[in-house]
Amino acid sequence: MNLFLKSSLNRFNKLIQADKKIMLYAAIVSSVLLSACGGKSTTDQQKNEAVAEKPPVIEQQTELSEHPGLPVYNQHCLPCHQADGNGVPGMFPPLDKKWIDGDDAALISIVVHGMDEEIEVNGEIYNTIMAPLPHLKDQEVADVLNYIRLKFGTSQEKISTEQVKTVRNSDV
Ligand code: HEC
Repeated sequence: MNLFLKSSLNRFNKLIQADKKIMLYAAIVSSVLLSACGGKSTTDQQKNEAVAEKPPVIEQQTELSEHPGLPVYNQHCLPCHQADGNGVPGMFPPLDKKWIDGDDAALISIVVHGMDEEIEVNGEIYNTIMAPLPHLKDQEVADVLNYIRLKFGTSQEKISTEQVKTVRNSDV
């Protein structure tokens, strides 16, 4: 091997080594980048999961603000039972789960036939009268009762217009 060949071979080897170094460097950089991206997408995924857990609450809120029973409540119940359902002490009782979550027919009856009995709500006795609201349509009664169940009660049971009709036509 002559000197020229030898030195060009050396240079060639060095070049390859430099190339290898660059490739190694590129490999490290890209793997760091990849893992960084991977890490980011995991947090994104976690974020998405965290967001995904929340919608039911948001859904229920929008559902309630668009619930057909809300305008009925605001017009026909709110003046006495108030927006927060807490009533007016001594005059109008707070809406109580005992009735809201209780028997369907008894709840419907309060609206279509009124209520005139001594009741105890939150430790306070009410012996007042709730006048019936016979002018409310079956649909409005069903809507408002389903609304107060969602808003102030815990029952998910729905009241139908047929049930309202039945109670309206009975003396119960
Ligand atoms: C004019 C005032 C007034 C209006 C309007 C009114 N209520 Fe009442 N409500 C009362 C009073 C007073 C009582 C308690 C009656 C008693 O002591 O027998 C009562 C009792 C109740 C009760 C049972 C007791 C309780 O605290 O939970 C429910 C349920 C109820 N009302 C729902 C409604 C709904 C739903 C509407 C609207 C569709 C409505 N009320 C409209 C005055 C009113």
